[in-house]
Amino acid sequence: MKRLNSQLQDDGAPMELILLLRTLLAGCKEISFRVSQGALAGVLGSTLSENIQGETQKKLDVISNQILKDILSESGYVKAISSEEEDDVVGCNPNGNYLVSFDPLDGSSNTDINSLIGTIFSITHAPQWMEADDPSAFLQPASQIVAAGYVLYGPSTMLALTTGKGTHLYTLDKTHGGFLLTTANVKIPVQTSEYAINGSNQRHWETSTQQYIGDLLLGTNGPRERDFNMRWVAAMVGDIHRILCRGGVFLYPYDKRDPTKAGKLRLLYEANPMAFLIEQAGGLADTGTGRIMEVMPTEIHQRVAVVLGSKQEVEACLSYR
Ligand code: AHG
Ligand code: MN
Ligand code: MN
Repeated sequence: MKRLNSQLQDDGAPMELILLLRTLLAGCKEISFRVSQGALAGVLGSTLSENIQGETQKKLDVISNQILKDILSESGYVKAISSEEEDDVVGCNPNGNYLVSFDPLDGSSNTDINSLIGTIFSITHAPQWMEADDPSAFLQPASQIVAAGYVLYGPSTMLALTTGKGTHLYTLDKTHGGFLLTTANVKIPVQTSEYAINGSNQRHWETSTQQYIGDLLLGTNGPRERDFNMRWVAAMVGDIHRILCRGGVFLYPYDKRDPTKAGKLRLLYEANPMAFLIEQAGGLADTGTGRIMEVMPTEIHQRVAVVLGSKQEVEACLSYR
């Protein structure tokens, strides 16, 4: 089976980016190991602290963040990082050529139930002019991303990665510690009968979302004239992985619980990398009012509404707006 290095070279990735990815993934392998130890290593449960988003941090949020922060800071390739678990941008090497944004542990509410979790990341060039801790350099649209992906800590540890030459899936071979290419050039089926949304928020949704989901629920008795199936992992990384594997549509729309928030998910380290992976696999990724890839961020922890997945189903959803 082909190794990650060799696929990255075939896709024309520059050597420094390959080395950075290998460094980042070494951190993810350590997270994978810590996660697999679970209660034996005392890593489950919550801390007493909150992140800047007001969410109580799980022990694994803090551990994963520290592992990635340390390994990226020491690598020399990285000028600065932004993380869900860091209030501010963290300056690394002033001469580093790359910026890395990450969600160190996505789906943290799943940690204590031994369910799917993952790490999501994106990498852009670091502008020459920036100071190492200047947050404005991170305010680049996803169209500027040079590599994005996630590592899913499931029954197997898997990597989904794109450098703009298609989306590839790799599986971690724990016998020798390498990521091996297991599906090249993923293509998401354009049509689907499977959707993912947290239906408990239904009363807070906008009318267009209510109508779209309402029609899916009517199945063969409604205008869609077929039955739909529903799945919700409570970790975007798990839902997007399922969509890459067999199609589907994932929504976390705007809702009226907190009108000041555009959505729940974060643009830089959740929506953007997933949008790049989905588009590179032939799917669509939208905020409801335009491509996620074109959103110009205004702050590092910005939130955004998302609908992404199988092309025809995202289009069907958008037609209700
Ligand atoms: P995180 O654990 O990084 O805070 O992200 C959780 C996100 C996302 O992964 C998931 O799809 C969503 O929150 C789950 O939201 P609900 O609590 O509404 O299920
Ligand atoms: Mn997350
Ligand atoms: Mn997280």
